Amino acid sequence: MALTTAALLFITFIPFTLAAAAPSFSIDYKNNSFLKDGEPFRYISGSVHYSRIPRVYWKDRLLKMYMAGLNAVQTYVPWNFHEPIPGVYNFTGDGDLSYFLQLCKDIGLLVILRPGPYICAEWDMGGLPAWLLKKKDIVLRSTDPDYLAAVDGWMGKLLPLVKSYLYQNGGPIITVQVENEYGSYFACDFNYLRHLVKLFRSHLGDEVVLFSTDGAAPGFLKCGALQGVYATVDFGPGGNVTAAFETQRQVEPRGPLVNSEFYTGWLDHWGEPHSVTSTKILIKSLTEILDLGANVNLYMFIGGTNFAYWNGANTPFAPQPTSYDYDAPLTEAGDLTEKYFAIRDVIKKYRKLPDGIVPPSTPKFAYGPVKMKKLQTVSESLDILSISGPVRSPYPLTFIQLDQVFGFMLYQTALPAGCVTPTPLSSPLNGVHDRAYVSVDGVAVGILERDKTISINITGKAGSRLDVLVENMGRVNYGKYINDFKGLVSNLTLGNKTLGNWTVYSLSIDEVVKAGLLWDSRPHRKHGKVVVPPPPIPPTSPPIVLSPPTFYGGTFQIPDHIPDLPQDTYIRFPNWRKGQVWINGVNVGRYWPSRGPQVTLFVPACLLSTSAPNNITVLELESAPCSDDQCVVEFTDVPVINGTIQYQKPFTRNPVHMYSRV
Ligand SMILES: *[C@@H]1O[C@H](CO)[C@@H](O)[C@H](O)[C@H]1NC(C)=O
Ligand SMILES: *[C@@H]1O[C@H](CO)[C@@H](O)[C@H](O)[C@H]1NC(C)=O
Ligand SMILES: *[C@@H]1O[C@H](CO)[C@@H](O)[C@H](O)[C@H]1NC(C)=O
Ligand SMILES: *[C@@H]1O[C@H](CO)[C@@H](O)[C@H](O)[C@H]1NC(C)=O
Ligand SMILES: *[C@@H]1O[C@H](CO)[C@@H](O)[C@H](O)[C@H]1NC(C)=O
Ligand SMILES: *[C@@H]1O[C@H](CO)[C@@H](O)[C@H](O)[C@H]1NC(C)=O
Ligand SMILES: *[C@@H]1O[C@H](CO)[C@@H](O)[C@H](O)[C@H]1NC(C)=O
Ligand SMILES: *[C@@H]1O[C@H](CO)[C@@H](O)[C@H](O)[C@H]1NC(C)=O
Ligand SMILES: *[C@@H]1O[C@H](CO)[C@@H](O)[C@H](O)[C@H]1NC(C)=O
Repeated sequence: MALTTAALLFITFIPFTLAAAAPSFSIDYKNNSFLKDGEPFRYISGSVHYSRIPRVYWKDRLLKMYMAGLNAVQTYVPWNFHEPIPGVYNFTGDGDLSYFLQLCKDIGLLVILRPGPYICAEWDMGGLPAWLLKKKDIVLRSTDPDYLAAVDGWMGKLLPLVKSYLYQNGGPIITVQVENEYGSYFACDFNYLRHLVKLFRSHLGDEVVLFSTDGAAPGFLKCGALQGVYATVDFGPGGNVTAAFETQRQVEPRGPLVNSEFYTGWLDHWGEPHSVTSTKILIKSLTEILDLGANVNLYMFIGGTNFAYWNGANTPFAPQPTSYDYDAPLTEAGDLTEKYFAIRDVIKKYRKLPDGIVPPSTPKFAYGPVKMKKLQTVSESLDILSISGPVRSPYPLTFIQLDQVFGFMLYQTALPAGCVTPTPLSSPLNGVHDRAYVSVDGVAVGILERDKTISINITGKAGSRLDVLVENMGRVNYGKYINDFKGLVSNLTLGNKTLGNWTVYSLSIDEVVKAGLLWDSRPHRKHGKVVVPPPPIPPTSPPIVLSPPTFYGGTFQIPDHIPDLPQDTYIRFPNWRKGQVWINGVNVGRYWPSRGPQVTLFVPACLLSTSAPNNITVLELESAPCSDDQCVVEFTDVPVINGTIQYQKPFTRNPVHMYSRV
């Protein structure tokens, strides 16, 4: 069949117009900048982690970022959030990445995507799924074949989804990060990075700008930078901006200057003072960065919340609290701060701010005190809590050996001999990961804690029941100890004897709380109490009365005479010590006011119901103020994340150290 000249012209014309109109994003090495659709482009971006914000609030937070003058956002993709079980993927609800990317696009924000596979992020195990530890000696973040096979599987699912949202395909994603601060990791396995680059290219194509991020010191870039991946740096305010970018220039002599993590604040740990970053210093450094024509991402622009068990930890073992507020320009709850407006005022000197009004902070409501009632202890509820039933084992098994990822496991045995005088119950190899609540015949006798308390004294008769409830407080997310096994990872000894003959209960507490099964009142045994010094033992604190880990429940109604309820709120725990809280079966996170600095937990309105009584379930691990059934939790409208702390421990990774040139 012969084509007419007109048809031929038409056919050749179409590809030409498409090519001319096709969106493009690249690096202009000649002019040291990015090129967007052929024009010089600079981003002023902010970090927001969708996994730390309820989906219903994504739009509000993104709009506030847009109205601050940002033209891009940066987010991590936490692998363990999306692949909870090998080969089982979840991109729904708060994990609906496509919806998040579409919202960014609709609002007018470009996206800098950081899909890992490792992300750090103060997130459990740096985003790596704990099931990788099924292979006991796996070398994470390396060319270990089992690790790579898992990465290939995950990226084979994630990257095709991402591809349609790339800028050149009409989506918002302008750049994609490979790995994360790999230069800070001991392995320095270039073949691993090369494998990732090949994998990313095979799924995303050759056009997308791939980049790496490392601390702004030559030592970090040595193992972090790789040919074919644009090297960027990260550093906080208060240092020498020119000097920091010179580090990037040593690896990338030409191309745009990029600070991929400019710290607006910093993370917290339980037992350390709340981190605060001065707005004045932040603004000064931000101005210097923008004056240099550099690209910048403010980490975090909104931190959000480590709901449930998602927080990570640093070493020596220091888990992060539930709040990931980060002292960012938008608070954990998305509220506007003085820092927000100060940043906006800087940005407007460099970019036209969008028209329109800044969305206001969401209103908060103080629902007041709610009376709590004792339900039952963990040890009393094993038949309900341990869906899979107990496993007998001569020596302790770890969480992952029983296919449990988060939460709590109970280890039970009998005292092999009488301990008439106080006898040390010890973890000689510091193998309590991470905190163990110990009771003898149902009486709480003490707490073992990783890197802090490896021995307590107990007494008891031969054959008495020893219950050791072990809490996973969040997996290490940074450094060389990310292979963080949980549970009793080594033997316990009593005196000089290794304890054996364990009965180990994997516990499905979240499922059971969600199903409301703890609320059936059953006759509970009366438990004795014993006075023991609190661990750790600050010299000035009075002794506390420990109780075995126990569930409490309470309900409250949203008042119906007040318009616009439910609203966001914060829950506090007056005179409670440490535990976990669920609202209507949803795990809101860990509370630990007795250590601090976080005192209140953010409870978003979307968890609350106006049509049915709202159910609060608390698992108190140490001691509840409920001796006369007078205990309450309280909903307030003011967050407290900077409360007093019980003690401080040295910790060296901070923005200044990250920044300073050695
Ligand atoms: C180089 O970049 C600057 C600012 O980024 C821009 O003003 C200038 O037009 C660019 N020059 C060329 C030749 O693209
Ligand atoms: C998927 O992930 C979301 C967000 O974590 C969670 O709320 C939801 O329950 C998960 N769905 C399934 C089927 O596991
Ligand atoms: C910052 O670093 C640059 C380059 O290393 C140097 O020339 C300059 O003197 C430094 N500025 C200050 C205030 O130390
Ligand atoms: C245990 O008891 C022994 C003897 O009473 C005492 O010396 C030791 O300090 C105690 N250890 C702890 C951890 O309380
Ligand atoms: C516990 O001790 C036994 C006997 O010494 C040993 O075989 C076993 O490997 C130890 N288990 C752990 C987890 O250390
Ligand atoms: C173990 O402890 C018992 C009682 O405290 C003591 O008699 C015995 O000598 C100890 N054995 C060893 C090997 O230390
Ligand atoms: C386990 O119990 C058996 C009999 O009850 C006993 O012979 C054995 O020594 C115990 N093992 C350990 C490690 O305590
Ligand atoms: C609270 O629990 C009760 C009893 O299980 C249930 O009927 C009610 O629907 C729950 N409330 C909410 C808001 O889920
Ligand atoms: C805690 O933060 C609040 C609100 O920013 C502030 O008013 C208060 O002074 C702070 N308290 C401490 C002890 O830093």
